[in-house]
Amino acid sequence: MSGSSLWQQAETGELPDHQFIDKHTIQMISQALCDLPQEWGRESCFVHLGVPDEILRRFDDIRSAYSDARIAAGIHGSRHATRVAVFSFWLAKGAEVPLQQALVFAALYHDSRRQNDRRDLGHGSRAAEAFRLGLCGFSTNDLNVEQKEIVDQAMRFHDVDWHEIPDNYRHRIDIRLFKAADALDRYRLPKRKWWPDPAMLKHQPAISLLPSAAVLMCLHEAYAISGVEEIAALTQASNQSRALNGSSLIETMQVVTEKVKALLD
Ligand SMILES: [Fe+2]
Ligand SMILES: [Fe+2]
Repeated sequence: MSGSSLWQQAETGELPDHQFIDKHTIQMISQALCDLPQEWGRESCFVHLGVPDEILRRFDDIRSAYSDARIAAGIHGSRHATRVAVFSFWLAKGAEVPLQQALVFAALYHDSRRQNDRRDLGHGSRAAEAFRLGLCGFSTNDLNVEQKEIVDQAMRFHDVDWHEIPDNYRHRIDIRLFKAADALDRYRLPKRKWWPDPAMLKHQPAISLLPSAAVLMCLHEAYAISGVEEIAALTQASNQSRALNGSSLIETMQVVTEKVKALLD
C-alpha cells in the first residue's frame, strides 16, 4: 500500500503489521477532533499538561529499549510511550510519589516488546518478563522493590481485557490508572471507532483529560512530522498548548487544527 496514508489504509481495511503516523493522517485526525467538544462536555475547558523532567531525562533510553526499531518509530513507539508517561504522571498526581514514579517508568517501556502494531496480545507480559529478568536494556536502579512490583504488573496487565484480569489486580488503583493513561492516547489511531469512549473509560479523572490528551497527541505528532526531534516536539506541543489553558473546547480545537495546518501544509 505504498502511497496511501495510514488513515486511508484503515479505511480500506489494509493496515500493515507496522504502522507509522503520516502528514495526511494527522491532518484527518485533527479535523475529526473538531467534532468532539460536544462529546467531551459543553461546559468543559481545556487543561494544560506539562511534561515533567523525569520523562525528558529518560527519553534517550526509550528508543533503544524497544526490541524492534520499526515498532519504536511507529504508532506504539517512543512518542506514544512518552505521552502515556505524561498522562500517567498527571492521573497519579494525587497519589503517593513512589506510585507515580513507577507508573511513569512503566509507561515509557510498556510497548517495548511488541512484535507488530496490531493487537499483539501478550506484549504486556513479554515486556514485564524482560523487565523482571533485567533484560530490558535500561537502568532500574532508582526503583525500589515495591515500585518494581508496580511496574511489572502495570506492564503485564495493560493489554489484558478488563474481565480477564485477576480480581485482586483488577481493582487496584495502579492497574486502573495505567490502563486509562494508555487509553487516553488512542486519538492517534486512524479510525474514530478506536478512539476513547468516555462511557467505557471507567476512570473519571481520565475522562476529564480526554481533550488535553487529544491536543497533546495532535501537536506532538505534527511537530515531529514537521521535522522537530521527538522529545523537543513533545515539549513544544506542551508549551504551545499552555496558552489554551481555560479556553473552551471548541475554541481549543480550532486553534489546534490551525496550528497543525500551519506546521504541515
Ligand atoms: Fe500495549
Ligand atoms: Fe500503549
